Amino acid sequence: MKFFIDTANIDEIKEADKLGILDGVTTNPTLMSREKGTYPDKLKEITSIVDGPVSAETVSLDAEGMVKEGREFAKIADNINIKVPISKEGLKAIKIFTSEGIKTNTTLIFQPSQALLAAKAGATIVSPFVGRIDDITNYGMDVIRDIVTIFDNYGIETEVLVASIRNPLHVVEAALAGADIVTLPIKVLDQLLKHPLTDIGIESFLKDWEKVQK
Ligand code: G3P
Repeated sequence: MKFFIDTANIDEIKEADKLGILDGVTTNPTLMSREKGTYPDKLKEITSIVDGPVSAETVSLDAEGMVKEGREFAKIADNINIKVPISKEGLKAIKIFTSEGIKTNTTLIFQPSQALLAAKAGATIVSPFVGRIDDITNYGMDVIRDIVTIFDNYGIETEVLVASIRNPLHVVEAALAGADIVTLPIKVLDQLLKHPLTDIGIESFLKDWEKVQK
C-alpha cells in the first residue's frame, strides 16, 4: 500500500519524506488556504521534494474551466496529478485529461457508483472520503471495500486512494480492504508509529543499560 501525505505544508512533507515511507502528496483548496504563497509556487516546491504523484485540485465547476486549470498545473511538473470532483463536468474533464496523457484523481467520492463512473472515464485515482462518511454515522470503510471488490471484479486499474482519514484504524482497515493508497494527515502518521508499550520498553531498556554501565 502506498502512503501519501494530505497537506500543503512544506515542513510536514519534508518530515514525512525523511521517514522513507512517502509515496505522494494530496492537496486541496482547504489545505492550501492554511499556507502562505500561491498554489502554483507551492506545487512547484512540493514536486521538487517528492517524486511520486502530487495532487493539485481544480476549483472550476465546468469541464472547460477544470481542463484549463489542470493543463496549467500539469505544466509545473511531470508528477502533478489533476484532482477534479466527481460530477458530469468532472467526467468530461477526466476524459480530456486522459486523452492528453495527464493523470487524474477524482475526489469527493462517497459511493461505489461514483468511483465506477470515474474509473470508466479514465481516472488514474479515485478518492473516497471515509472520515466524512463516518461523521454522518455510516461506515466509510464499507464504501472502500465495495470499490476494491468492484475494481477487482473487472480488472480496473484505477487506484483506490482512501482519503479523509481520521485515525490509525482507518489505515489498518484500508490495508485489510486492499486499498492501493492512503493519504494521511501528519497527526495520523505520528499516531501510527506510537504504542505505549514501545515507550515503556525503550525506557526500561535504557534504565537497565545505565545499570550495566555503573
Ligand atoms: O484530501 C481530502 C481529504 O483527505 C479531506 O479530509 O479531513 O477534510 O475530511 P477531511
